[in-house]
Amino acid sequence: MLRDDLITPATGVIVGIGSKGPEQDICCRLGTSTISPGTTLLLTTIVTSASINEIVTLNKEMSMRISTGRWVSGNDFFDRENELTILSKLVRDGNHVLVTGQRRMGKTSVIQELGQRLEAQGWNFFFTDAEAATCEEDVIADVAQAAQRIASSKSHHFSKVGSWFLDCIEEVSVYRVRAKLRAGLTTGNWRRHGKELLLACAAQDKPSLLVIDELPIFLKRMLRESGESESKQRVETFLSWLRQALQSINSRSLVVIVSGSIGLQPLVWRLGISDRINYLHPFRVGPWDRDTSIQCFHRLAETCQLQVEDGVAAAVYDKLGIGIPHHVQSFFARLYEYTMLGRDRVTVEDVDLVYQNSLLGPPGQMDLRHYESRLEDGLGDDYTIAVEILAAAALEDVFTPSSRRHLEKLFNDAPGRIAEVIDILVHDGYLTEGADGYRYLSHLLKDWWAARFRGHYIPLENRRPNSEQ
Ligand SMILES: Nc1ncnc2c1ncn2[C@@H]1O[C@H](COP(=O)(O)OP(=O)(O)O)[C@@H](O)[C@H]1O
Ligand SMILES: [Mg+2]
Repeated sequence: MLRDDLITPATGVIVGIGSKGPEQDICCRLGTSTISPGTTLLLTTIVTSASINEIVTLNKEMSMRISTGRWVSGNDFFDRENELTILSKLVRDGNHVLVTGQRRMGKTSVIQELGQRLEAQGWNFFFTDAEAATCEEDVIADVAQAAQRIASSKSHHFSKVGSWFLDCIEEVSVYRVRAKLRAGLTTGNWRRHGKELLLACAAQDKPSLLVIDELPIFLKRMLRESGESESKQRVETFLSWLRQALQSINSRSLVVIVSGSIGLQPLVWRLGISDRINYLHPFRVGPWDRDTSIQCFHRLAETCQLQVEDGVAAAVYDKLGIGIPHHVQSFFARLYEYTMLGRDRVTVEDVDLVYQNSLLGPPGQMDLRHYESRLEDGLGDDYTIAVEILAAAALEDVFTPSSRRHLEKLFNDAPGRIAEVIDILVHDGYLTEGADGYRYLSHLLKDWWAARFRGHYIPLENRRPNSEQ
């Protein structure tokens, strides 16, 4: 709670800010990190019961920005209180977690928000993204770079990590420090250095949360880039190393969250090494429900002072068919741009128009192409099978058992490969299984794939196997 003397009793307006304590946390979380001790912070918000969360919530109501790019946090972060409560409990109880969920569902945002909230409560928070990593050493270098924030050459915990790390942490340039850290890692030493690093992170006087985002993309890349048995061995070695290192550490001192849009579970099942990740508690970030999506739309409309006719937010949700936060934000952004062309308000008819011309048109397609390349990255050779399934489900409404039998005639080792691809498409949130086959969850993805193939799609039953694939 805030100190009472910082709140005007009659109105509850916050009038001051102390030099340390919870008020400073509020400063950080309100984005006023430049505040110095003794500065007076005047908020116009009336606060009657001033817990940190309430104030942050009130502030969020005031200024949420449109965001269609990277992850969001702070004022731009909407809802997800249930997810944050569950994740926070899991992490505080010392569970390592595997966060999954379809692309653009808001996984990174939830994790970043969690990390920032924990940091405000005395935790260390390290975030790394393994998407660009090409080998194990890259991942360890990323973790080291994140840990560098809390390390100092005087810390005896980090002195155990050795000169590889200590020589680098005094480096002032971010770019050079990464290069230096990476240069000291080899195929022979990454395990040892990596483990020492995790031990040092765990030995701090504060508990630490380490996030390795998009780890499955890195593992998939390894699988694709080396020969079959070598690549399986490398994935197995990496996951075994992580499990062993974490099991040798008190999980109340260091908790790890691994996350990614491409399913880690289907990947380890396929390799027959599910036990390497069974210590991770799975947590799925799902879509917003209808009400939450509508509320988010209204919040954006309020803060952007966009006039919207009754029923617009509901029409947006119904058009999308599912509350993927990024799609809600993108739809809002496109409607906002549309009103810039001299309109004073958005009507329900505009929703349809903007969906057709903008979301499904060239601007939206760029975004959706990203989905395609992610899928291609994740599936390798089986991508062509996924394209067939997604095209059939888009243009025929459903991918039926009969289409599946026809598809089996077109590929080598088809039944197993098709089953795996379907697992991944379901796991990654593209399709859902119904009584008559597999259908899209998102109208936007369905319409996009339909637009892409319409005109040159040949139904599967009319195809002849032409070459071995
Ligand atoms: N809680 C949220 N509040 C508002 N927008 C969100 C939220 N979560 C996600 N978004 C939207 O989705 C986009 C992608 O979020 P991100 O966290 O990067 O998703 P993921 O990691 O699942 O791919 C953001 O740029 C933003 O537009
Ligand atoms: Mg992400």
